[in-house]
Amino acid sequence: MKMKSATVLVGVALGACLALMPCARAASTSAALDVAINKPGAKINPSMWGIFFEDINQGADGGIYAELVKNRSFEFPEAMMGWQTVAQGVGTLEVCTNDSPSVANPHYVRLTKDTPEGAFGIENEGFRGIGVKAGSRYDFSVMARIVRGGPVKISVALISAKGRVLDQARCQEVTMGWQKTTCTLHPAATDPKARLRVSVLGEGVVDLDMVSLFPHATWKGRPNGLRADVVQLLADLKPGFVRFPGGCIVEGRDLANRYQWKNTLGDPSERKLIINRWNTEFKHRPAPDYFQSFGLGFMEYFQLCEDIGAEPLPILNCGMACQFNTGELVPMDRLDPYIQDALDLIEFANGPVTSPWGAQRAALGHPAPFNMKVLGVGNEQWGPQYVERLARFTSAIKERYPGIQLVCSAGPDPEGEKFDFLWPKLRELKADLVDEHYYRPPDWFLKNDHRYDNYDRNGPKIFAGEYAAQSVATCSPENRNNLQCALAEAAFMTGLERNADVVRMASYAPLFGHTEAWQWKPNLIWFNNLSAFGTPNYYVQKLFANHRGDTTLPVVLRANDAVFDKLRVSAVRDTEAREVILKVVNTGVQSCEIQVNLTGATRYEHKAQTWTLTSSSLQNENSLEKPMLIAPVEEKVKIQAPTFKYTFPSYSLTVLRLRVR
Ligand code: AHR
Repeated sequence: MKMKSATVLVGVALGACLALMPCARAASTSAALDVAINKPGAKINPSMWGIFFEDINQGADGGIYAELVKNRSFEFPEAMMGWQTVAQGVGTLEVCTNDSPSVANPHYVRLTKDTPEGAFGIENEGFRGIGVKAGSRYDFSVMARIVRGGPVKISVALISAKGRVLDQARCQEVTMGWQKTTCTLHPAATDPKARLRVSVLGEGVVDLDMVSLFPHATWKGRPNGLRADVVQLLADLKPGFVRFPGGCIVEGRDLANRYQWKNTLGDPSERKLIINRWNTEFKHRPAPDYFQSFGLGFMEYFQLCEDIGAEPLPILNCGMACQFNTGELVPMDRLDPYIQDALDLIEFANGPVTSPWGAQRAALGHPAPFNMKVLGVGNEQWGPQYVERLARFTSAIKERYPGIQLVCSAGPDPEGEKFDFLWPKLRELKADLVDEHYYRPPDWFLKNDHRYDNYDRNGPKIFAGEYAAQSVATCSPENRNNLQCALAEAAFMTGLERNADVVRMASYAPLFGHTEAWQWKPNLIWFNNLSAFGTPNYYVQKLFANHRGDTTLPVVLRANDAVFDKLRVSAVRDTEAREVILKVVNTGVQSCEIQVNLTGATRYEHKAQTWTLTSSSLQNENSLEKPMLIAPVEEKVKIQAPTFKYTFPSYSLTVLRLRVR
């Protein structure tokens, strides 16, 4: 006899009575599920299912940030990385820093052309190529000035991987002082690996900086915007929150390279470039050209949240560099500027336009507050050094902004020494939300769906801030986004949902991976330079977030041990829609007919709707070629509520919605 805890889920082995139950097919198993509609449980946080954003795997630069030119302002330590010179005439190139148009990013290139004939220029390789689509418009811009000679014009061309000119255009004549000059391109063919050629025509000396190419059709047409296809995938998730900007990049390898939100505002050319922590992290996946331009900065993150209806959840450095790297600590007597950054961020997000940071937000085009409610202090920190820094942050923030909820780290693992050390301390500090991370094998997720059944209901709440089933080993390059991992996560998520009184937020991690430029696997969404697709894991997130409901309902599952072990269930109510939502995960090789018994409603409708995510093998995955191999299939079904039988396919997650009164 299996008896799981308390009110949320009770599993009872059916034993002998199973033999009496008719099976739909010989290969099918059976079980019974009771859902008590008249016994509503916890209120679910409307923002419960969210997303974790980090610039890892080329997630921001070369990813969602739509800039197509790599090293656009020549600030990489190797100033010409990503560039090469192209001479169809005579010319020389030098990298300069004096009298630059940008204070924060001082490097630019000087092109000297000693003859009026031909062209001399530079070519950018983009982020593993430049993805362009036939018929689409691309907006080119460059900061340019003429130093000597002239008249000089700038010619711009998109060159295909095979060397064909896809389109070319000329910008306005270059002037004496630094000026932004622009033109548009309409490539004749689609190419994932085009190059951008910028050439000088005429005789003279010309300086170039901030060479930029954007698709015109960014998300919502915003300048300095985001890739529309990728943001659409995020919007489709209907995420409750976006946690940004990471992840370990918040911490940096050392404090000099930590994420500093104030450096990411305003004119993109004045956002100081730094190395991305993932540039050197894995010897087996070196990424020497991975830097953070911060073109996607805090203002853009807040705007993204607003655009897709998600709560902003920024995470800030707490005076500690990544403990997997240098673990550099800011001394306690020099922590104040870090705390001030947090206080200023709250004012930036929420303050009136009359406050200094509220005024900055307004000056950047957003007078209305962003209404931020939650803020993270430190990413994945541990040890006494974290606790003492967190304590200082907590008292300063709570004193000034008692309404802001703070997310605190429980370290990198969901158990063990670091975890056990931190939890009592976080309890003492009266942490609002504790961020637990679980990068574990699929089996761990299946075994841990009851993890929160017996958690202390009076202590800090849980933010399941980073989780993903690892098919081989934690962040192994061989990890797969297969159905097995997706269903394991779904199984675990039924447990999070049943415990929605204590688990208030959850997000899969990491979010993005470029198919040719990743460091870490698995990831929720994969893309190349032209298209993007959701993994089965993505569709699990989507099904939970799109069908979140507002109140938990108690469920009792009855089956024999073997069947019981393969099934995970949760039920919630959507009060406004007057619907009950069941989520059933069947990890077994056999389909399972479940007799569902709803109790406590006065009227039931017989029309229901289901979304089923399944595939023939647990090893199946989606890909660029078959992006929807595993995707939810929606169906309208008739059921004989309040008691009906429904067959849940093998290897599946099913969401079943039915109307009740
Ligand atoms: O999600 C990838 C990394 O995993 C994050 O940057 C970090 O927080 C965790 O170790």
